[in-house]
Amino acid sequence: YPIAVLASGRGSNLAALIEAQRAGALPVAFTLVASDKADARALRIAEAHGIPTLALDPRGYASRRDYDLDLFARIAATRPALVVLAGFMRILDADAVAPWHGRMLNIHPSLLPKYRGLHTHRRVLEAGDAEHGSSVHFVTAELDGGPVVAQARIAVAAGDTPETLAARLLPLEHRLLVASVALIAAGRLGLGADGPWLDGRPL
Ligand code: GRF
Repeated sequence: YPIAVLASGRGSNLAALIEAQRAGALPVAFTLVASDKADARALRIAEAHGIPTLALDPRGYASRRDYDLDLFARIAATRPALVVLAGFMRILDADAVAPWHGRMLNIHPSLLPKYRGLHTHRRVLEAGDAEHGSSVHFVTAELDGGPVVAQARIAVAAGDTPETLAARLLPLEHRLLVASVALIAAGRLGLGADGPWLDGRPL
């Protein structure tokens, strides 16, 4: 099952996908790992595993839209069935996203619909929430607003900081993303006109 991964930074979610694939637990082939940042660790991880990479610098494009359309044209050229946003820190143009409806996933570190956007760990603490988590969702033009397919939860403890929350959540994010991609690759999870379905039933 061919997938492309977009990542702006550290790439631990990409690494988790690669590890699962290598372990035989995720039947995917990586067509491309692309980044908006040439120095993203995610690109080094991909290179180390012989996965084709693309570093595409948004500077030099007249608009966000021009960049996004070029980026997704290059992704499409590698023929992925699914695009996974794994820490891709850019807002995407609606026209670039539309052709990938139901074929693009994002992992976002909050219990969506709470806390779209940045600084989720800090916002959870500021709000005094008792729990926090991460969501995998299908990508739509609305930032962090597409249909949620799976969530992982942690309890917020006294003394937690944004850093401790992020660190505790990260291994759960890895499992959540791998499991979600595995379900899609197996044809068990998808997005229909009425929303996400799992094993033929509405989620
Ligand atoms: C994860 O927390 C993910 O939820 C968020 O960005 C982080 C990416 O981490 N979208 P990594 O680059 O995969 O290590």
